[in-house]
Amino acid sequence: METIMLVNEKQQQETQEPNLIYVDEKTGIPLIGLIHIGVIDRGSNLLQIRTSTVCNMNCIFCSTDAGVYSKQHKKNFLVDPEYVTKYIKEMVQLKQCDNIEINVDSVGEPSAYPYLQRLLENMKTIPEVKTVSMQTNGTLVTKEKIQAWEQAGLRRLNWSLHSLDPEKAKYLFGNHAYNLTRVEEMLKEVINSKIELNLTPVYLPGINDEEMIKIIQLAKKLNCRLSIQKYETYKYSRKENDAERLSWFKFYRQLEEWEKQFSIKLKCGPHDFNITRTKKIPLVFRKGDIIYADIKAPGWFPKEMVAASQNRAITIVDAKGNVGDRVKVKILSAENSIYLAKQL
Ligand SMILES: C[S@@+](CC[C@H](N)C(=O)[O-])C[C@H]1O[C@@H](n2cnc3c(N)ncnc32)[C@H](O)[C@@H]1O
Ligand code: SF4
Repeated sequence: METIMLVNEKQQQETQEPNLIYVDEKTGIPLIGLIHIGVIDRGSNLLQIRTSTVCNMNCIFCSTDAGVYSKQHKKNFLVDPEYVTKYIKEMVQLKQCDNIEINVDSVGEPSAYPYLQRLLENMKTIPEVKTVSMQTNGTLVTKEKIQAWEQAGLRRLNWSLHSLDPEKAKYLFGNHAYNLTRVEEMLKEVINSKIELNLTPVYLPGINDEEMIKIIQLAKKLNCRLSIQKYETYKYSRKENDAERLSWFKFYRQLEEWEKQFSIKLKCGPHDFNITRTKKIPLVFRKGDIIYADIKAPGWFPKEMVAASQNRAITIVDAKGNVGDRVKVKILSAENSIYLAKQL
């Protein structure tokens, strides 16, 4: 819990805790170009906003290997709310779209961000932002926060609920402190607010099949949205070895079976959330470009460094330089406004 204490107590930022990197204007780290913090454009009217890498849970299947027991991530990042707002405005201008959805997302837990309320309030000042949504594991939600978020204009909560069995929920969240009773109380509070509830369980075949059925029944009872997610594994994600990896075909076939069995819509796509394709923002660098960049901070993964060039952040993999060095790099990939490079 050490890291959570860190972000919950503002004065700890001033203590120069070496494993927490506070990113503001002074750091010179641009907030477009990184996967773990900043603003991400994947070519739709939805922009992902990532303001902190911290998570209070340790899901056994976590795609980002978040939490205090993370094997990969020894550093956490926390972004200044005014600084990220500046980049959201820049991104919105580049998008030339007047129907933007801001999705407060994270490689950790968005509701653990200590300046969340400020960020939400800031979004109200951007006329092109028509919708604000947020992902959450739900464990830090309180009645007061729901009221405050509602007043700040939060439209939708995408709520990760993976089991309605208390012990299985603790197991899946990798944390004995996961309190299902409390989570269920807060779900009811959301239902009674203006914020739309979208339950987003991850289906791990062989592990939480029965739980999916209970969650379907709960969604029907609460009359809320339900977007069951397919369990995915990645090189650095945590894995539940006893869970079957389904193909997309088998996953959708299972959703269809449940749709028929429970008379509920489960197959949903971007159009169900008014997400439309838009032009991507122009790339500043292309794959193969050789450029000079200034190293500004350690990276999210060990051996990585975060560098800056032309108002874009670049992750240097297998970096050899130190903070303050100007290095020559080759762009390895430039996709979805995210830049990866290797040092030459
Ligand atoms: C990395 S989490 C961050 C947001 C928040 N901490 C949460 O869990 O909702 C983003 C989303 O990915 C889902 N997720 C995590 N690991 C996954 C995996 N291995 N496969 C599919 N979805 C996953 C989570 O349930 C959540 O909906
Ligand atoms: S899935 Fe979300 S709640 Fe679970 S460990 Fe990962 S970031 Fe945290």
